[in-house]
Amino acid sequence: MSGEKNIANIAVAIDGPAASGKSTVAKTLAKKLGLIMVNTGAMYRAVAWATLRDGVNPDDADAVIEMLGKVDFSCGVEDGVSTILVDGFYPGEELRQDAVNNRVSRVAAIPEVRKLLVAKQRDYLKLGSLVMEGRDIGSVVFPDTPFKIYIDASEEVRLARRSAEGLADEVAKRDAEDSKRKASPLVVADGAVVIDSSEMNIDEVVNAAMEVLRERGAPASMLDAVS
Ligand code: CDP
Repeated sequence: MSGEKNIANIAVAIDGPAASGKSTVAKTLAKKLGLIMVNTGAMYRAVAWATLRDGVNPDDADAVIEMLGKVDFSCGVEDGVSTILVDGFYPGEELRQDAVNNRVSRVAAIPEVRKLLVAKQRDYLKLGSLVMEGRDIGSVVFPDTPFKIYIDASEEVRLARRSAEGLADEVAKRDAEDSKRKASPLVVADGAVVIDSSEMNIDEVVNAAMEVLRERGAPASMLDAVS
């Protein structure tokens, strides 16, 4: 016996609107702390990508649900970051194409899609402690975690960030769709700390997130792993 306690794995939930910087912050934080980083947006994008591949109308919920029964979405981890294969194929950068941007919010509004993906997201916690980013991580996927952060930024800043990436994404339209849908809309989860990143650089946001973890009692073993 080592005398060590079997400490349960910890989930850090990071939510926020499109292009708020949450992916970069989640990635940096996970790397710093040696945690797995899970990008749940990629999972919704993979379902949207599959509807394009299979010619399924994203507004026809029955057709999308039927597709879910036929397609294999397999989630894993590579180099500490989540991956998703669709029938064994890795769609990679294709997940960020305009055609996917344009339909992902509609596909994500279908409760059966969310049910399937939320189960896969919760499974990740069996692999280890993690940072998970998305829209409903603090509100639905891990509502009991004390480590909830909501990263916001003004619409102007978010549009500028997306176009600096060379992407013409209709961020405002997607946000409106994500916020007004019935199934798990984008909200500030109960107990989440809001960080407005409009005037902050990535290091400042990461430091603010670290402070939240410290204040909320993250174990020293996790905070001490900081590289
Ligand atoms: O990277 P960006 O912030 O633009 O978006 P994303 O995180 O890749 O998410 C793409 C879309 O997936 C969102 O606009 C939502 O419609 C949906 N999504 C969701 O409904 N729930 C999540 N937990 C994550 C993403």
